[in-house]
Amino acid sequence: MTTNTIQAVRGMNDVLPEAGAAWDHLESTVFDCLRRYGYRPIRMPLVERTELFVRSIGEVTDIVEKEMYTFTDRLNGDSLTLRPEGTASCVRAVLEHNLLYAGPQRLYYSGPMFRHERPQKGRYRQFHQIGVEALGFAGPDIDAELIVMCARIWAALGLTEVSLELNTLGDLEARLRHRSRLIDYLQRHRSDLDDDAHRRLASNPLRVLDSKNPALQGLIEAAPRLTDDLDDAARTHFDAVQAILRDAGIAFRINPRLVRGLDYYNRTVFEWITGKLGAQSAVCAGGRYDGLMTQLGGKSAPACGFALGVERLIDLLEADGAHVPHRAPDLYVVHQGDGAERWAWRICERLRDQGLRVVLHCGGGNFKTQLRKADASGARFALVLGEDEAAAGKVSLKALRHAMQQVLVDVDEVPGLVNAHHGRIGAMGNTLRPHEE
Ligand code: HAM
Repeated sequence: MTTNTIQAVRGMNDVLPEAGAAWDHLESTVFDCLRRYGYRPIRMPLVERTELFVRSIGEVTDIVEKEMYTFTDRLNGDSLTLRPEGTASCVRAVLEHNLLYAGPQRLYYSGPMFRHERPQKGRYRQFHQIGVEALGFAGPDIDAELIVMCARIWAALGLTEVSLELNTLGDLEARLRHRSRLIDYLQRHRSDLDDDAHRRLASNPLRVLDSKNPALQGLIEAAPRLTDDLDDAARTHFDAVQAILRDAGIAFRINPRLVRGLDYYNRTVFEWITGKLGAQSAVCAGGRYDGLMTQLGGKSAPACGFALGVERLIDLLEADGAHVPHRAPDLYVVHQGDGAERWAWRICERLRDQGLRVVLHCGGGNFKTQLRKADASGARFALVLGEDEAAAGKVSLKALRHAMQQVLVDVDEVPGLVNAHHGRIGAMGNTLRPHEE
């Protein structure tokens, strides 16, 4: 490599075409599931005012303290930030456009998020989420719907190695009661805390429970639990979520230590984790955030959502051996001579109209080199067009991956022959191949 080639920024990755097929498959499968539950797409900007994230995610969180890509707008001096997550932006958009005026909203979005973390497998500085937010729903039914929808997504993707952890964080009063018991407890153990925990004790004691320091795990394990402070309403809500999940046949584990790294949550929180990806085990996480609308200056409205980590799910698809559909072209069209080229252009469009994936050879060359390209493209068949075929208004169909006599046929026979080979359900080009959608 010469010294002046430019490489991607650390922790920000290209997704190359080989992996791109799995990304396409994942996105289309997830979007299809979300649409089946009536969720609608929303797109927000990648850049927001820094204050949005400070006020929503919380000032004393790893994300806001250390991980945001923040810069100053060079014209007006505004502090702006590349979004580290989507919930805050989505709520901002819903408030700004008064979407709840039309009733509760089921929304989803997808795209890159940015966090200045130490890059490692499954943890990147630019990563991708598909996020889902249900706004304006107060009951436990929507919490359960979101979780059931996740389970459907795993099944649709063929993922088996994911399990659900659930917890409730209760409501504000319970949180305050728990907070004061926690402060008492941590102060009694002051001498055992590390510097970070000392700082968090002063600013946001709940975050001490989030510490990854192994030396503090015993202390954290024995700390007062929020479950002991829960209000009846929060307890009833949580019981109802669990009841619906049991009815739906969804297994879960209650994890009282599940606190989440963002401050806006209350009541139900959940994570889908896997044992197959090492340290970065959470592939999807979310929960209820009933206070966020008012925190961002809007009228009070309940809300609940989750985001799944696309990179981690792609890794899991591979680790789990899940089926990713093959997207090679059906046909690679080779041609020689002016008449054949004009004929090739016409029939390529006609066959694409019929739903086939058709690559037209570009760049000239003799039949031998063109057929080498056809083979390398992964296509199942080549269409061979010379002046004879062009004059007769026909095509020669040549199998590239199995034994079959080359045949001279009408263009309209091609979809049937290709589909018969793929074992398609019908002969029309737009019917599905098994495993394709
Ligand atoms: P989060 O737990 O910060 O929640 O992120 C959700 C998921 O994004 C994680 O479970 C993980 O799969 C993936 N993820 C997070 N950080 C990285 C990273 N640096 N590299 C790769 N993947 C990562 C949220 O962001 C909330 N907005 C979720 C939510 C939506 N809650 C309510 N609605």
